[in-house]
Amino acid sequence: MTPKVTKAIFPVAGLGTRFLPATKSIPKEIMTLVDRPLIQYAIDEARAAGIEEFIFVTSRGKSALEDYFDRAPELEAALEAKGKHALLDELHKTDMPSGAIAYVRQAEPLGLGHAVWCARRMVGPDEPVAVLLPDDVIAAERPCLRQMIDAYEGTGGSMVAAMEVTREMTSAYGILDIEEDMSRLVSVRGMVEKPRPEDAPSNLAVIGRYILSPHVMRSLDSQKPGAGGEIQLTDAIAAEIAAGRPVHGVRFEGQRFDCGSKAGFLQATVAFGLARDELRDEFQAFLADVTSSRLAAQ
Ligand code: G1P
Repeated sequence: MTPKVTKAIFPVAGLGTRFLPATKSIPKEIMTLVDRPLIQYAIDEARAAGIEEFIFVTSRGKSALEDYFDRAPELEAALEAKGKHALLDELHKTDMPSGAIAYVRQAEPLGLGHAVWCARRMVGPDEPVAVLLPDDVIAAERPCLRQMIDAYEGTGGSMVAAMEVTREMTSAYGILDIEEDMSRLVSVRGMVEKPRPEDAPSNLAVIGRYILSPHVMRSLDSQKPGAGGEIQLTDAIAAEIAAGRPVHGVRFEGQRFDCGSKAGFLQATVAFGLARDELRDEFQAFLADVTSSRLAAQ
């Protein structure tokens, strides 16, 4: 039996410079897709996958994130007094039980591997842990992490979410060297962080969802800076393979949006907007209109 995955780490310490000036005063993870902050999508995905404990690796200026997960008694009372029960229900969907969320600070921006390592004291020595990067928003019928945990129950070891990218894009991702391709599942014999297209072992990229075996956390204890001078999670997982422990990739079913980029964020806004019953007709009409008038102007 593989040990159950009940804890997840959310690295949210980044400065979000790509979204300046907005991120001067709000954390990137609080930026909203339709009406929910980015972080809510990651939390909901984790909850749907059976995660019960949530560890945020934060930094200075992220207090809005902590407040977001706190109860809002005055707001609740005001909604109650006005009989706005539908809104109250919406609000309660974001409730987190006391003690389910923990925050730990990353004192210096030394890379994703370092951010994950900052949570080491909150994960038991024999416990696997999930990692979700909230920038990667994945719309899926069965949540991506759920798909991964189901696969992990058969394989054990470590698991990453995987998706084909174009050759030119390999330098933006961790890339898998495939040992055996079993269609949805691949076994991995190597992993490289952000290789140049000509050096990439494949075009199968790691997307920001991981299940880490307890060894990965230990190997992060001694991980040296890698690509970009940062301590890379990719390198710590690659060390697993070198030590003879299993690492797999799951080609997940669903659509991934790179909400760490402006174009990706806009695409997600359109997709999630169109997915809402109450917005669809008006929004669709607007999009048709704006597209045709732009074409007409050319
Ligand atoms: C991180 C990881 C990379 C992964 C990517 C997925 O990179 O280091 O391996 O492919 O997330 O989004 P970042 O986008 O933080 O540079």
